[in-house]
Amino acid sequence: MSDIIHLLPEHIANQIAAGEVIQRPASVVKELLENSIDAGGKNIEVHIKDAGKTLIQVLDDGTGMSPKDSMLSIKRHATSKIKSVDDLFSLQTKGFRGEALASISAIAHLVLKTKREIDDLGVKMTIEGGEVVSNEEYIGIKGTCIDVKNLFFNVPARRNFLKSDSVEFKHIQEEFERVALTHPDLHFVLSHNSKNIYDLQPSNLRKRVVGILGASSNDKLVPIEESTDIISINGFVLKPESARKTRGEQYFFVNNRFFKDSYFHHSVNKAFEGLLSPKHIPGYFLYFTIDPSKIDVNVHPTKTEIKFEEGRSIYSILLSSIRQSLGKYNIAPLLDFDQETAFEIPHDLKNQPVVEPHIKVDPEYNPFKTSSSRGSSSKDFTPAMKSQGFGTAMPTQDDWDAFYSNNPEQPQEQQLDLDVFDDEGFKNSFILNNRYMIFPCNEGIMMLDLKRAKQRVVYDDLMKMFISSPINSQEVLFPYEKKLSSNEITAWTENRSLIERLGFRFEINNETLVINSTPDYIFDEIIYDCIDFMTEQLAYKDIDKGEIAHFLVMSISKSSSVFINEISKKQAEVIFLNWKESEERNYAPSGKKIINILQTEEISKLI
Ligand SMILES: Nc1ncnc2c1ncn2[C@@H]1O[C@H](COP(=O)(O)OP(=O)(O)OP(=O)(O)O)[C@@H](O)[C@H]1O
Ligand SMILES: [Mg+2]
Repeated sequence: MSDIIHLLPEHIANQIAAGEVIQRPASVVKELLENSIDAGGKNIEVHIKDAGKTLIQVLDDGTGMSPKDSMLSIKRHATSKIKSVDDLFSLQTKGFRGEALASISAIAHLVLKTKREIDDLGVKMTIEGGEVVSNEEYIGIKGTCIDVKNLFFNVPARRNFLKSDSVEFKHIQEEFERVALTHPDLHFVLSHNSKNIYDLQPSNLRKRVVGILGASSNDKLVPIEESTDIISINGFVLKPESARKTRGEQYFFVNNRFFKDSYFHHSVNKAFEGLLSPKHIPGYFLYFTIDPSKIDVNVHPTKTEIKFEEGRSIYSILLSSIRQSLGKYNIAPLLDFDQETAFEIPHDLKNQPVVEPHIKVDPEYNPFKTSSSRGSSSKDFTPAMKSQGFGTAMPTQDDWDAFYSNNPEQPQEQQLDLDVFDDEGFKNSFILNNRYMIFPCNEGIMMLDLKRAKQRVVYDDLMKMFISSPINSQEVLFPYEKKLSSNEITAWTENRSLIERLGFRFEINNETLVINSTPDYIFDEIIYDCIDFMTEQLAYKDIDKGEIAHFLVMSISKSSSVFINEISKKQAEVIFLNWKESEERNYAPSGKKIINILQTEEISKLI
């Protein structure tokens, strides 16, 4: 039998390599932006058409390339950034593999225009599927401009796999934001279908974060500043009240490179313990500066995974620096029904001398103890955390993906015997503050938050309808109208079936959204908020359809639970009886507690 192994032709090898680096239009944007920064560009523009499916253009005023270098730049493993393996451990540039341009040109049509300061004329090259089809002189100013068209023209499976324009553009915007946040000193522009999305002038870090998050975020930022022999950390965390349930405002950077890390994310979460409900995710923009020889960037082709030699120590430093700042800026737990019952200190206790609290100290514990790998920390993690990639030797891309898709753990169900509340039980109850239903019970006093109980009832009812059939809807007398951009209109029409399942019926008239029917339970006051919410989620965010339903139904349930008039005992009883049937009756859809018992012992301590 003859030999069967043969070398793949270069163009096929390039296409396969491209699959790892270029997964969607956003990956092209990331690679081109990084090249522009490595080339010393100060003004960098990204122009996108049809979410990158028609055109991705990135232009910079960096060094440009010589005619010979521009020919080489599209060859695999051609790079000006490293010369030896040692350089890998002292990387100052974002690129080093020499793969990005080769990969992009293997699966798209490119026009590359570039000129150096010292050259009179630049070069304009057209490349199709890795082949140079034309190469001519170009008159222009110093810098580089790359147009990428017909992405995945020769990989139909990839092209078909692309999501809607709104989702793909959302990914592009995310990559752009990460790069812009890494370099506040540079000027960045992003446009989509000729509409200006960002024009970020050179500034400091705070202004750049505010430029991305919006002006109202300025007073929500808590500065973090820490410098140790191992690492320096600076940046911001967001105050707990602006934490969201969806991910999106979590950014780690190391030596000017964005990265994802579920282990360090866990450290930030821990620093917020007691300040946030378990379902909320703290927002952060944290910049690490570390000796480049102490990290390994060459772990994954997209370079968003980084190996830290002293991960365990960094975890502790991060935790303590955030806790310190939260303390310094007086970020105290919010007073809430969820918190331990907070009563006024009885008068006679106020006059007693203050006793110094006792603290137990573990003399063996050293938070800065160096360990060669974070693997040694695995014993600190619960099985649930381990399954999400925490505490394993090194979280992999799969761990990260799993971490992103898993929901936070649900709080333990509290076992309460509610059947004791018969007619007699109701007779003994009373309503406090037009909100709380109070019952005496064997253990002490049971307190039910009627507002949250009503939210639970409405939420369950709407979700049940959403899952089995469309949510019931009512035709409105006067339709609600809202002018939308073309992008937003596409998002509404592309998602018509989801929106109708949610109980909204609509049509589009001259770029105006017209809502004719609205879901059961909804109050007029929140309809425009719901429209804005859905527009934002469908056109600009990439959250799951189920999550959209959850948030929408949650706002409807919240608005329907505002008690405008005094609530009667009879009404309270109806809410109680419906709520009692809920499978998740201990928590409101927002994750907040609905019922709690003030134990007799606690009462005795208070008197
Ligand atoms: N905008 C640009 N301005 C100047 N030179 C550029 C630009 N883009 C690419 N180059 C040159 O082309 C080379 C190849 O770029 P490419 O992105 O393929 O590889 P890289 O950046 O070296 O490594 P990586 O694959 O990790 O990104 C670069 O090393 C650089 O010399
Ligand atoms: Mg590169």
